[in-house]
Amino acid sequence: MYGSPSHGVHLTDAPAGRADRLGRVSTEAPGPESTAHVPSGTPAAASADRPRVASRIAAIAESATLKVDAKAKSLKAAGRPVISFAAGEPDFATPQHVVDAAVQAAQDPRNHRYTPATGLPELKQAIADKTARESGVSVDPSQVIVTNGGKQAVYQAFQTIVDDGDEVLLPAPYWTTYPEAIRLAGGVPVDVFAGSDQDYLVTVEQLEAARTPRTKALLFCSPSNPTGSVYSAEQTKAIGEWALEHGIWVISDEIYQDLVYDGVRFTGILDAVSALADTTILVNGVAKTYAMTGWRVGWSIGPADAVKAASNLQSHLSSNVSNVSQRAAIAALTGPQEPVEAMRAAFDRRRKAIVEGLNAIPGFVTPTPQGAFYVYPDVTALLGREWAGSTPTTTLELADLILEHAEVAVVPGEAFGPSGYLRLSYALGDDDIAEGVRRLSELFSA
Ligand SMILES: Cc1ncc(COP(=O)(O)O)c(C=O)c1O
Repeated sequence: MYGSPSHGVHLTDAPAGRADRLGRVSTEAPGPESTAHVPSGTPAAASADRPRVASRIAAIAESATLKVDAKAKSLKAAGRPVISFAAGEPDFATPQHVVDAAVQAAQDPRNHRYTPATGLPELKQAIADKTARESGVSVDPSQVIVTNGGKQAVYQAFQTIVDDGDEVLLPAPYWTTYPEAIRLAGGVPVDVFAGSDQDYLVTVEQLEAARTPRTKALLFCSPSNPTGSVYSAEQTKAIGEWALEHGIWVISDEIYQDLVYDGVRFTGILDAVSALADTTILVNGVAKTYAMTGWRVGWSIGPADAVKAASNLQSHLSSNVSNVSQRAAIAALTGPQEPVEAMRAAFDRRRKAIVEGLNAIPGFVTPTPQGAFYVYPDVTALLGREWAGSTPTTTLELADLILEHAEVAVVPGEAFGPSGYLRLSYALGDDDIAEGVRRLSELFSA
């Protein structure tokens, strides 16, 4: 099941006028801006033959996680008592001392101006310090680029190192943004699938089987979104050494590094294999650790040439991240860390409750995740059977049925790779978790 090109998944009902991956536009009735009635022979008529939206951009799938979350919110707004396990963000408020630093920053005219595109020097220093402390690698602040969330860091990393036709090995299940970011750079995502029987962790043998002369990079995400799986120090080292041996770049997404449980220690890929530093880009951010998803502060760290190229890109794309948010991030990284531990402890408690609850439902096989705030049950046993009057054959259909009949929102596995799985975030209150699991249990006990 590995080595196959990823085709992305469209959970979406394509909006009218949207082109498919080949640039063919839907034949639905033309909208008010249609050029359908322009006489032939005019320049406008000639352009009518071409897709209105560039095929490169029209081919991007809507974020499935955001779509499910939006659907759950709109049902809730319509009065339905929906419990949503769909969100990919902490439910806690940002720690008060971080908010206070931002309020103060907003009052300071120095923050009202453009600042260096790659970030405030104090923040870059704080990021270098955190990286030494937690990722086990010493970096110079000049290697850091502060980005508009980890998402921009991911996008820029692929833009920086991937050329047209380059293959990027993508362990699946994967975060839904990676394949889109790879394609936008002209690359070809190559799925390397690991199922629940291997705790969703790929092996060096699988990676090697998928390697070709066109393989340029490996995406490595530990702890993982969507599975919560964490690679051990030994597994990380083996993968890092394999990448080094074959000259394969590694984009290592460490955004969940502080959210680990059961005494597990996060191991950074450059801590495991320091010689890989010349071909590795680290991605990280404050969003998940500090409950700061809305503040939009992430970063990338890499070797000098890649950093220079990515800074040039960012200088034309977005320039500096909001100074107020950067000041807040400095407070988060350098201030008291007790709020982080309190949130981690709450996630840990919820993790245990949801795993226990789901595994008590026949048909759910839920490995115990050791990181992030997601569980990823294998529900293949529920497919092809009748539930509440219908017989889902994919997890897309199953997720719809669950929302309709149990008023519980979950994200189908198709958003992250193969069908047969569901992602549930446990970043919600203990009572909601208990009630959501109870409803699932009721639906599938029939
Ligand atoms: C694995 C992973 N990387 C990066 C990000 C980006 O986070 P942000 O852009 O909010 O910093 C996310 C967010 O969901 C994520 O799950």
